[in-house]
Amino acid sequence: MSQADLRLPQRGMGATSRRDAWWLEPLIVFLVLSAFIVYTTWAAFQGVNYFASQGGAHYLSPFYSPLLYGQNGEPYWIGLAPPSWWPAWSPFAFSPAFLILAGPALMRFTCYYYRGAYYKAFWLDPPSCAVGEPRKSYIGERRFPLIMQNVHRYVFYPAAAFVIVLAWDAIQATRFVQEDGTTRFGIGLGTVVLALNAFLLGGYTFGCHCARHQIGGYLNSLARRPIRAKCYGCVSALNRRHMTWAWISLFWVALTDVYVRLVAQDIITDPRILF
Ligand code: FES
Repeated sequence: MSQADLRLPQRGMGATSRRDAWWLEPLIVFLVLSAFIVYTTWAAFQGVNYFASQGGAHYLSPFYSPLLYGQNGEPYWIGLAPPSWWPAWSPFAFSPAFLILAGPALMRFTCYYYRGAYYKAFWLDPPSCAVGEPRKSYIGERRFPLIMQNVHRYVFYPAAAFVIVLAWDAIQATRFVQEDGTTRFGIGLGTVVLALNAFLLGGYTFGCHCARHQIGGYLNSLARRPIRAKCYGCVSALNRRHMTWAWISLFWVALTDVYVRLVAQDIITDPRILF
């Protein structure tokens, strides 16, 4: 029996018979992710105005949390900044964000959803479905360097710890220091901003495909494990909207940093909702 040649014809870069605006989504992804990367890099290098204590508030920017090294009056974990081991020859002034941003950045960079989005938007590989791409061969993610993306299954665990730390920051944001040094419960707009940030990042992180696998996806049957089945159902519900959680949490984490910076510099006054 003769064999048919089923190879698809190779398209040139960008060639397609699609008539819709297929380029719009990758373009938006490119612009939004570029803006986010530029902003976070700028914010990380600032090294100041990441903690707002206006009116006794206790608001820490998520780009600096956990605050391993900080200044007096800030909720640092280890000691005063800069740490003694920071090299004097470094061309950059120490910023506490340098020590922690790699964790959340790696989570996003290796995320299954973002990979699909930025491979299209930044590498045009392919620019979109059924649109010609620059390369003629396909090696997937089976070889170096893209095989390193598999680290995502391990990055999930520190990312989950970050969410817990951010939730703790939101709880701390309900503490307001009085003039006599005592603290009292209160809720400011900053408290709401920080709490929403922890919530949205939690929705993104715990809807991760790796979390779904770990919680029960690797089992053949969940029928006799009611608690695990419930957890699996919750993670699956988050996972179905993973893209939405990814974008909203990305937007909100940047907005949280902006808000804390503005309050820290007294450019805006943090309104008290409950005191
Ligand atoms: S797949 Fe997106 S965070 Fe894991």
